[in-house]
Amino acid sequence: MASFAVIWYLFAACLAPALAVDCPASRLQLSEPPYENYFFSDCITSSHVIVTSQEADSNTSSVKARLLVAWPAGNSGAAAYFEAENNGPLGLHLENSTSNGEVLETVNEPAVDGASNENPRVGVKGLIHFDTPALLTLPILGSIRTIRDYSEGGGILSLDVQNAVVTEKYGSDGGQFYRTWFDNVTTTWIDFVPTAGAEAVRIVTGDKWMLRFGTGTYEFRATFNYPPLVQLSPSEVFNNASQGLARENPDLTKSLSFLSYSNKLLAGSWRFLTYFGRDSMLSALLMEPVLSQGEGGAIEAVIGAVLERINKTDGTVCHEENLGDYATFLARQEGISSTAPSCDYKMIDTDFFLPILMKDYFVDSNTGKGRAAQFLNKKATFLDENAGIAYSTLAQRTAEKIMIITAPFASEQVASNLLRIRDDQSVGEWRDSNSGLGGGRIPYDVNTALAPAGLRAIASLTKAGFFPDHSDWAETADMYAQTWEDETLQFFQVSVPRSEAQQHVQQYVSDAALAGPSNVDQIESTMTFYGVSLDANGEPVRIMNTDDCFRLFLLNTTNQEQLSAFLAQTADHILRDFPVGLHTDVGLFVANPAYTGNKSLSNQFKNSDYHGTVVWSWQLAMMAAGLARQLARCRAYGAPDFCKQDVYSKVQEAYGKLWGTINANRAQLSGEVWSWRYDNGYQPVPLSAFSTTESDIIQLWSLTFLAIHREDV
Ligand SMILES: *[C@@H]1O[C@H](CO)[C@@H](O)[C@H](O)[C@H]1NC(C)=O
Ligand SMILES: *[C@@H]1O[C@H](CO)[C@@H](O)[C@H](O)[C@H]1NC(C)=O
Ligand SMILES: *[C@@H]1O[C@H](CO)[C@@H](O)[C@H](O)[C@H]1NC(C)=O
Ligand SMILES: *[C@@H]1O[C@H](CO)[C@@H](O)[C@H](O)[C@H]1NC(C)=O
Ligand SMILES: *[C@@H]1O[C@H](CO)[C@@H](O)[C@H](O)[C@H]1NC(C)=O
Ligand SMILES: *[C@@H]1O[C@H](CO)[C@@H](O)[C@H](O)[C@H]1NC(C)=O
Ligand SMILES: *[C@@H]1O[C@H](CO)[C@@H](O)[C@H](O)[C@H]1NC(C)=O
Repeated sequence: MASFAVIWYLFAACLAPALAVDCPASRLQLSEPPYENYFFSDCITSSHVIVTSQEADSNTSSVKARLLVAWPAGNSGAAAYFEAENNGPLGLHLENSTSNGEVLETVNEPAVDGASNENPRVGVKGLIHFDTPALLTLPILGSIRTIRDYSEGGGILSLDVQNAVVTEKYGSDGGQFYRTWFDNVTTTWIDFVPTAGAEAVRIVTGDKWMLRFGTGTYEFRATFNYPPLVQLSPSEVFNNASQGLARENPDLTKSLSFLSYSNKLLAGSWRFLTYFGRDSMLSALLMEPVLSQGEGGAIEAVIGAVLERINKTDGTVCHEENLGDYATFLARQEGISSTAPSCDYKMIDTDFFLPILMKDYFVDSNTGKGRAAQFLNKKATFLDENAGIAYSTLAQRTAEKIMIITAPFASEQVASNLLRIRDDQSVGEWRDSNSGLGGGRIPYDVNTALAPAGLRAIASLTKAGFFPDHSDWAETADMYAQTWEDETLQFFQVSVPRSEAQQHVQQYVSDAALAGPSNVDQIESTMTFYGVSLDANGEPVRIMNTDDCFRLFLLNTTNQEQLSAFLAQTADHILRDFPVGLHTDVGLFVANPAYTGNKSLSNQFKNSDYHGTVVWSWQLAMMAAGLARQLARCRAYGAPDFCKQDVYSKVQEAYGKLWGTINANRAQLSGEVWSWRYDNGYQPVPLSAFSTTESDIIQLWSLTFLAIHREDV
């Protein structure tokens, strides 16, 4: 056996240089105190390591000393929570390697010969330094979802998970924790050995077993043996024309590459390190000009991941996947022994993005056109229930669903025929925190933009020969789309006469104890906007918002009077300052509750609320891209009426002002969402300053400014 192992190593050594040429290690460090983030990828594995250190003035019950390693494969990870032995704050940090100066290195051990798990044991290693003697009091090993349940679920721990953790000595003076997943096959390990004369790691037994470290530096390794994902390198993520982006924006490019794999794009890290339908399709639409097309490219990874996960029975597109240890855990709770992945189908907006993206690629792109037949003939493999079903069949299910649910409104334009979030849910689209829609049930974006755009796309796809069982859609989908485009806006329209609007804004400034100016002098006439949703009675929820961007980006509407008025009010809200409009020095707020005339409602849209008076990067991107698309229509044949009206220059002015605020906030743009404090103007502040929820340091749809630039319109 020994000689066999030697031969294997020689063989591996011969192969190694060949692999290394294609993918040298990629490293990225991003700081967001109290979190220090390190990304490491190579051909073997991709890891995100986050270190949280306590400072002398830290609140040790809210800032926990922690080493967390997150892996895209299986949405899995290892978290180690530490406490200072003397109960004070615990300072810890990663050290540079003494040999090559790098912080992280790859770990890659072949599977034990003859073991039931044939995957190599992979991960990262590095040096962790403790400023005072420390106890590793809590290891959480397995799924990122399990770690999130603990970190943001108020300390929820599953006994089944924790009781399976084994604590052992590692080598002569080290210690380790490991846990075998519920699949009985995969294991996650985290081990430590002293370096540079640090004390031996000691196992402390008792109610719960802990590891004890002295002051000093220890080598840690975090590893697991789950099937790896194939990461797309920066050059593989971008199309040929955009290869220069990797040099111009190395950090954003490394972030994008970290979230991009051959069979899916991931939403963010570390908290959402897996497939999310809306995030990936929306990002693909915004970044389409730069993403790679063709077999093995980013666009096909996105579309393929979505098709694989469709509910074959009713055509619903998957919002979030459950896989790895968490999928087995969920099945186990239902009394089922299964490792099969599953999906969450609660969102109502995600279905529409699919035909829109498919039309963009398979109809509008030459590469896509050439790939359609081969790609759509592929058979699904990811969900057991879809195994063997052709992608084309799954895509058609979703289109059928859209045709069915949009038919009632196409025939009778009443609020009760609009699309509403599921009765058993309080969320259903991107504003998916409990008060994101202000208690409404009928979302503005879905009804006025996504549904008609989805229908237009189905009509185009059908005309191009897709959905041959439904050739009638070439006409019906367009007919439905016309009605959804022209007849939905009015349900959401809110018009507040000038003096009433001024009163509401003054009242809001006082209710919210807003430190900034009321800007009421900017209210020159009746304020008109489209509410974020309709309530159960079909009345608009009077929250001004940025969701106009969906209509601007996804539709070229043709009702001229409506289009001019719509663009005029969008431009007004960008040109006017919060709380009259949406504009601030830190960006456009995604919601402005100043016109609700209801303190308990406006209070749900604070600067600490996820969908409150805060700024989202991708909403700025989509607004910029949407305005550019509308303005570009003025140069095309058959320019809309607004191009010859006063509103044209107003839209141009709004476009310029929007880019002013985007450029002023470059430092924030790759974050998902940010908040503010008022100090001689609005100043950007991480949302985490007001909320205990950590944010993702990298987020797919916040990388869209790689593709969105100010255009000459
Ligand atoms: C420290 O954090 C805890 C938990 O978040 C909180 O309850 C407590 O009020 C904080 N203490 C101080 C002094 O801020
Ligand atoms: C590691 O090296 C970097 C770059 O050389 C340096 O800025 C950093 O301070 C070093 N870190 C530690 C903990 O010494
Ligand atoms: C893992 O092993 C346990 C104990 O033998 C068994 O009950 C369980 O069904 C197994 N789980 C899976 C997913 O095979
Ligand atoms: C992109 O470049 C590669 C390598 O230079 C080439 O093989 C490929 O055909 C190009 N693709 C397109 C769409 O131009
Ligand atoms: C798929 O759709 C069918 C029909 O609506 C439903 O009964 C089923 O629960 C859905 N599957 C999942 C996993 O939600
Ligand atoms: C004000 O808003 C709250 C919270 O959304 C709601 O329960 C209440 O009915 C509203 N009041 C009025 C008068 O609309
Ligand atoms: C709308 O028109 C603009 C400008 O001609 C174009 O770039 C965009 O793709 C069109 N959008 C749709 C949905 O057709």
